[in-house]
Amino acid sequence: MALNAARRVTRADGRGQSARSFARHTDRFARRQIQPGVLRSPRDGRRPVLDSVFSRHRPTEGCASEVDFVASLSLEFDRLEMPIAPEERPSRAARARASAPSALSTATNSQLALHLPSELPSLEIEPEWKDQQRLWGHSFHPMCSYLASFPASLAHAFIARYTRPGDVVLDPFSGRGTTPLQACAEGRVGAGNDLNPFAHILTGAKVDPPTKADVKIRLATLRLAWVASSGEWNALADRIVADPGSDVLVPAPGSRPISGTPTDRSASGSIPVRPDTSVPAEVTLAFHPRTLAQLLYLRAGLDPDDRTDRFLLATLTGILHGKSASYLSAVMPNTFSMAPRYVRDFVARTGFHSPERDAFDLLEDKLRRLYRQPPPTTRGIALLGDARDAGVRFREALHDRGLPERARLVVSSPPYLRVVKYGYYNWLRLWLLGYDASAIDDLLDDAHHHDAYIVFMREVLSGLRSALADDAVIALVIGDVEMDRGRPAAGGVGLAESVWEMAAAPEGYRLAGIALDDVAAGRKMTKLWGDEAGQATKLDRILILATSEAGRRRAINGASLPIDWDWPPRRPRAL
Ligand SMILES: C[S@@+](CC[C@H](N)C(=O)[O-])C[C@H]1O[C@@H](n2cnc3c(N)ncnc32)[C@H](O)[C@@H]1O
Repeated sequence: MALNAARRVTRADGRGQSARSFARHTDRFARRQIQPGVLRSPRDGRRPVLDSVFSRHRPTEGCASEVDFVASLSLEFDRLEMPIAPEERPSRAARARASAPSALSTATNSQLALHLPSELPSLEIEPEWKDQQRLWGHSFHPMCSYLASFPASLAHAFIARYTRPGDVVLDPFSGRGTTPLQACAEGRVGAGNDLNPFAHILTGAKVDPPTKADVKIRLATLRLAWVASSGEWNALADRIVADPGSDVLVPAPGSRPISGTPTDRSASGSIPVRPDTSVPAEVTLAFHPRTLAQLLYLRAGLDPDDRTDRFLLATLTGILHGKSASYLSAVMPNTFSMAPRYVRDFVARTGFHSPERDAFDLLEDKLRRLYRQPPPTTRGIALLGDARDAGVRFREALHDRGLPERARLVVSSPPYLRVVKYGYYNWLRLWLLGYDASAIDDLLDDAHHHDAYIVFMREVLSGLRSALADDAVIALVIGDVEMDRGRPAAGGVGLAESVWEMAAAPEGYRLAGIALDDVAAGRKMTKLWGDEAGQATKLDRILILATSEAGRRRAINGASLPIDWDWPPRRPRAL
């Protein structure tokens, strides 16, 4: 739980998440504040930015809609359960713009190879992960959607080739925990780190889950306590709904432990209990009053530092919004939060009322799906902090557990160049968890331009080195970014090559090769709008590095090894 004090995320308190605050937030984006950075050593504990501009931007600039903006991503998105409603579709003009043929969109695989600078070797890894079923992998993976996550099958392609049971597998940008969970499910020690507290909760829930019995008992306890106190919570929700955006205060997340909650753990946790807060108007508009009452109760009662409650909270984020009856709000798709302004306008324009949904019933259904497979028997590690110093913290955490301190494999996908705002696009889930979306966006390294990004990656690779075995293999999924807010992105294509030349090579890494992964078109979110939409990003490149010549040879020799794609495995897996 090491989190540099200077980078600690503040939870929304007082009126921090109100409509007014969101408007201020949007204005600040629009003003595009630029702060010149300064060079700092990765070891001095402060935020290191060399020659960089730290740009806080309006995420939708240059895009027809929020949807259009996010559609330009290439890594896997969680599939929406239902097509996006017509009113959420980008305009005809936007789709026409997006469908303009790009060199990459029309290229064949062999043509794609031509985009690699000739001096960099390509590594032939058959992208079999694309042939696997949509939900391939452990049943905990689809707990909650997460922007630009990669499929569990991709993690498996590397875990199976480059590790044995008991080995440590790292991901310094773990997102929703795909790599560490899949590693644990295959008997490896999966360790993830992320600076986004939402990602940390998802990763922690997956790699250190409660037993099925524990979670069932806890849910039954919560239901019983709800029956006893529902009158009070319903009355509170009714007051809020009567005047959306008003100053009516509600108990802060984790501040009203429900019987059975091991409250002694809250005090030592990473998230301090905060004062009571008001509910932003957009949150109120998103839920039926009875559902809102249950959410306020669960939000106040669940303790994110407790294993079972954390799992329930993470599961709750996954069913918070979506376009089917399995979700608590129908106002937006499951994949990401539509903008608060969009929610207000949509509700005003259509007279939308979210249907009444029972949080306990839907939680129970989702838990049944998640526990379709038994939890992994190997427990993993979830750290909250900056990837730049993740190496030291990984080693400490592994040491504390008496595990090998050096990893044989890293499978990771660093943030994209100015493509995803992990706070902004998860604002409703972050409200549930008690965090301020804009504070998270200020904290993360997803808004760098090319040069600052390269410096960032160099610092990350430098910091990681101490946690890597002598023959470690490092697979970094780095997508091309063709467009930046409607304009061609400087240095966005061939970013993986730049990371090699300017970040990894100077830090003494060896290059095994670059594997190309033309976008899994069938899984793209843009598929919902037809094949023609969202051509902004077409190619993910997997940069495969090693810490030594032995590691480089291991990476090359392992690339063509056949692996077992049965899931769940029929027999214990080994190399
Ligand atoms: C492309 S996503 C990783 C997704 C992940 N592979 C998955 O499957 O869910 C990149 C992640 O980097 C995180 N991030 C951004 N800046 C960071 C930093 N300085 N340190 C650690 N994590 C950071 C973001 O919160 C985000 O979760």
